[in-house]
Amino acid sequence: KKIGVIFDLDGVIVDTAKYHYLAWKDLADHLGFEFTEAHNEQLKGVSRVRSLEILLDIGKVHLSEEKKQEYLLSKNEHYLEYIYKMGPDEILPGASELLDMLDELGFHYVLGSASKNAPLILKQVKLFSRFAGIVDGNSVSKAKPDPEVFLIGAEKLNLKPEHCVVFEDAIAGIEAANRANMISVGIGDKDVLHEADFNFKNLTEIPNDFFTRKVSEKIL
Ligand code: BG6
Ligand code: MG
Repeated sequence: KKIGVIFDLDGVIVDTAKYHYLAWKDLADHLGFEFTEAHNEQLKGVSRVRSLEILLDIGKVHLSEEKKQEYLLSKNEHYLEYIYKMGPDEILPGASELLDMLDELGFHYVLGSASKNAPLILKQVKLFSRFAGIVDGNSVSKAKPDPEVFLIGAEKLNLKPEHCVVFEDAIAGIEAANRANMISVGIGDKDVLHEADFNFKNLTEIPNDFFTRKVSEKIL
């Protein structure tokens, strides 16, 4: 059976949440309210614009549209300072091995990320050229949990959604994969990602026969 894989980026391939946190926290400091790492959990998998809205809700701050645009830009510039320092040593454990496994099986994979910085991040960690395609925050009009990002991914893979496996660390991403009729794999806390078809703590836990047996059995 032909199987294709769609990877979320942030939290699955690399841990950029900490850099988003530092950049958003800096903005919260500037606006005069506290923004904790627990608050930051709410921003995972969420688009940049939506992230700002959530942040402003937390601080109960109201801003003009113009100010919002200004802060979106400055937050991203700050975030990019961290991204430019990233290297291949920041690839999360098990990710490179999983891509190797897929290469050996001859299964293609694409990226399905909400981030507009996804191509840059993949280049920083030297994984860009391994992907058969990139679907990122620049190519979608509807954010996760809308399935659009993954459906475009399936088109790039030239596969039916039912033949695609999605790796995700965010609830919104699992929902998007399920709505797209794909096989969803939750990476992280299985109590949080309980809607996923499969759950693993991290990518090192994926068994060798995962695609050839577990996933194949699910595809009719
Ligand atoms: C997602 C992250 O991958 O990308 C979110 O999980 C982030 O936290 C979103 O807000 C958008 O990212 P960017 O890089 O376009 O600001
Ligand atoms: Mg993610």
